[in-house]
Parts: sequence; structure tokens; C-alpha cells
Amino acid sequence: MLSYQHSYHAGNHADILKHIILGDVVAGMQKKATPMFMLDAFAGRGMYDLHAEDAQKTHEFDTGVARLWPIQDDDIPEGVARWKSLIEVENPDGGFSRFPGSTAMLAHMLRPMDRLAACDLHPQEFNALRQGFRSHRRFSLHQRDAYEALHAFLPPKEKRGLIFLDPSFEDKTEYQAIAESIADIYAHFRAGVYVIWYPILPAGRDIELFRAFKKSAIRNILRVEMRGHFPDMQMQGSGLLIVNPPWHAQAAMQASLSWIHAHLLGEKGKSSIQWLVKE
Ligand SMILES: C[S@@+](CC[C@H](N)C(=O)[O-])C[C@H]1O[C@@H](n2cnc3c(N)ncnc32)[C@H](O)[C@@H]1O
Repeated sequence: MLSYQHSYHAGNHADILKHIILGDVVAGMQKKATPMFMLDAFAGRGMYDLHAEDAQKTHEFDTGVARLWPIQDDDIPEGVARWKSLIEVENPDGGFSRFPGSTAMLAHMLRPMDRLAACDLHPQEFNALRQGFRSHRRFSLHQRDAYEALHAFLPPKEKRGLIFLDPSFEDKTEYQAIAESIADIYAHFRAGVYVIWYPILPAGRDIELFRAFKKSAIRNILRVEMRGHFPDMQMQGSGLLIVNPPWHAQAAMQASLSWIHAHLLGEKGKSSIQWLVKE
């Protein structure tokens, strides 16, 4: 189907949570000085222009990055500081109109010893991705199906891998499909750190996702979530399931989540970090 385009939604509350927590997970893995492989399976275009027509049509960034910017406080959690510095690099004249997506975040964190592969199936999104980033030996771009890419790239030769899965959930069967695909590849790569983003929508399909993961053989799944009231939006929150979360990342994620919640929602809403499935 592939009608979803992230350019309408870039910079919203879910992007903030997603990219900061993703950075915390990668940083936790990078505490070990050994090479790792990263797969951004649903990459999108990697960089978004918030002045462009799509973003201007929805203005979803109003209750996301625009609510946070400018960040003047120096006493901010490590994960927020990392994300802020990436936005500053991309916007040397100030502001946040060049808004980095997940691929930009991962490319920003790529060490000389690591590898990154980014995939998107949508021709337009993939073209934009290819125009925005130059691939090289350690950073490759692929117009290919994410589910098929899991089997093509995993397990990686480095034996350490971060797999980021950020589907558009256009089809309601995707909640089940994502859990099944990960269960499938987990059988071949149990050591992988899998990060799956999910939306909280009125239909409540996040429950189906949790049920499918609980029924699978996958253990050690952390659930990081923020719910609140975001005017004029269907999506009233979002979360990330993290399989095999690096131990070092957990305090950093808690600090990031508390900061994001306080600055986006104040006293309202609810955030939590809890185990969906224990070890
Ligand atoms: C939510 S967006 C990605 C946003 C991006 N990860 C970010 O955080 O900046 C989902 C992307 O997945 C792509 N997509 C949807 N189904 C796909 C599939 N089966 N394989 C690869 N890409 C797919 C869409 O074209 C879309 O660009």
C-alpha cells in the first residue's frame, strides 16, 4: 500500500520520544568498545523540512519540537543533549526547521568501527533518503522491504546489532506481523537489541502488539511509554518496546523520559518504563 509519508508528522511528540530514547539505547550499547551493526529498517527520508508544505499542513511539530525549542537549560539529560546537538549541527543559523529523522540520529552516532544500513521501500522516500545521505562502506542505503531486510542482514558479522523498527502501521495486521517477524529473526539472532516503536491510538491496537510479544519466545522486553493529551491529534501517545535493553541505558532512558514528559505535558499525562516480559 505504502501511502504513509512521515513528512506530515515529523517533529511531533512521538518523534521526540522515539529519537531521544533510540539515542540512549545506542549510547548504552556503545559503552562497549566493540563494533556493532545498526539496521534502520523503516528509515523514511532521514531528514525533514518543517517549512515544507507537508509539515505545514498538519503542524504536528507544534506539540512536539516547537514546544521544546529553544532548549536553554544546560542541566539536561545526556540523551536530550545528544539530540539537541544534532539539531544544532543541522541548523547552524538556529531553529529546528531541518529536523533529523532516525537515520540522521543513527548516522550521527556511527563510530568508525560500526556499520549502518537504512532501508525504505517507498520510491519517493527512498529517493529523498538517497539525496540526503551519501552512502559509504560503513553506511549503506537500500530500497527494500524491511521484513525481508531482517533476514538479509541478520545476524551481522559483528555479532552485536541494534535493529530499529518504525513501521507506519497503515495496515492493522502490521501489529501482529511485526511481532511475528521479530520472533522469527530472534530465533537466529537472540543477542540483538530490537527497538520497536508503536503509536497509542483510539483503536487500542497497541494491546494486540503486547499480546503478540507476550505469546512469543522473546524474553527481556522493556516498555517505554508516554501518554497525554495532544490537541487535534489522533495519536495520544506512543511507546517503544526494547528487546534486550542495554543495562547501561536504563537510567539514561528514565532521565530522558522524565524530561520529555515534563516539557511536553507538564503535570498531565502518564509516562512509564516497565517490563513487558522479564528475562
Ligand atoms: C514512520 S516512517 C519512518 C520514520 C523514521 N524511522 C524516522 O523516525 O525518522 C515509516 C517508513 O516506513 C516505510 N515503509 C513502510 N512499509 C515498509 C516496508 N515494508 N519496508 C520498508 N519500508 C517501509 C514508509 O515508506 C515510511 O517511510
